[in-house]
Amino acid sequence: WVRMVTAQTPTNIAVIKYWGKRDEALILPVNDSISVTLDPAHLCTTTTVAVSPSFDQDRMWLNGKEISLAGGRFQSCLREIRSRACDVEDEEKGIKIAKKEWENLHLHIASYNNFPTAAGLASSAAGFACLVFALAKLMNAKEDQSQLSAIARQGSGSACRSLYGGFVKWIMGNDEDGRDSLAVQLADEKHWDDLVIIIAVVSSRQKETSSTSGMRETVETSLLLKHRAKEIVPKRIVQMEEAIKNRDFASFAQLTCTDSNQFHAVCLDTSPPIFYMNDTSHRIISVVEKWNRSEGVPQVAYTFDAGPNAVMIARDRKAASLLLQRLLFHFPPNADTDLNSYIIGDKSI
Ligand code: DP6
Repeated sequence: WVRMVTAQTPTNIAVIKYWGKRDEALILPVNDSISVTLDPAHLCTTTTVAVSPSFDQDRMWLNGKEISLAGGRFQSCLREIRSRACDVEDEEKGIKIAKKEWENLHLHIASYNNFPTAAGLASSAAGFACLVFALAKLMNAKEDQSQLSAIARQGSGSACRSLYGGFVKWIMGNDEDGRDSLAVQLADEKHWDDLVIIIAVVSSRQKETSSTSGMRETVETSLLLKHRAKEIVPKRIVQMEEAIKNRDFASFAQLTCTDSNQFHAVCLDTSPPIFYMNDTSHRIISVVEKWNRSEGVPQVAYTFDAGPNAVMIARDRKAASLLLQRLLFHFPPNADTDLNSYIIGDKSI
């Protein structure tokens, strides 16, 4: 017999960024962060997990290619879920798995991203969130979403925020064992449904500095990060929560853009400096900033993760269509390369 579960999880984009760990093994951050979960139709991971007594080892395929499961992060997530596995009884298929049998059963996992892997589009976020969710269902683990988020966190920090739709906060927590470092939903997907997200894929190349090694170097060398984590982010988190609650786009946009720019400033303050944005990213910032200023009230917020692709959040559909016109004018898609393609989606699931 084979028991299979398939899950789909969207990626999320941070509007107040996570950058820097206080504990690398457990993936505990130096500050809280807030994100928006995207529409799964546009940027998501689909993962199928299967278990069978005929499997003789754990194996995984990512986008059709087999990958190694030796990494500590995958093993941490698997260990955590396995330790919470319960009895499974599927009468229809005649499958019965007792709690204690999970220790000796092997898994096959197939995962697909519908967007470029590791190009700064938070692929690890959707990937680990989906894996943990699917494994929990397969093994009948009874954890709630927040408890699952603390497990997904051990795969990749930002993954903990993809267990929920809408607006999500990753609370950094205080405990040394990380049990209180988890995600909570601030507002669901219906709360602010005027927003439209447009992503400009400036490059789908794999980034040169991974988030993990980049933030390690920042923690080791940047004084600006210490100031950011202690003095700036805690206040910004409060202001961002307020802006989301009140659907105050002017504050939301100001905080989102400022926080993205400070994150990239912190990267620049790292030794050796890390450059995630490129010339096109900088030009996109100028276009949006000029337009927002000429309108008097912000129409669009921009944010960039660990890569050059721009994530823009328009205040409504009208602003989104005007933004797209501007982007197509200034950054026309190149038919020969994958440069300047656009992904348009609603903000959430
Ligand atoms: C810039 O979650 O990819 O996207 O925890 O080491 O796996 P690890 O890092 P990761 O870092 C994401 C950084 C970011 C900001 C954010 O998503 O908050």
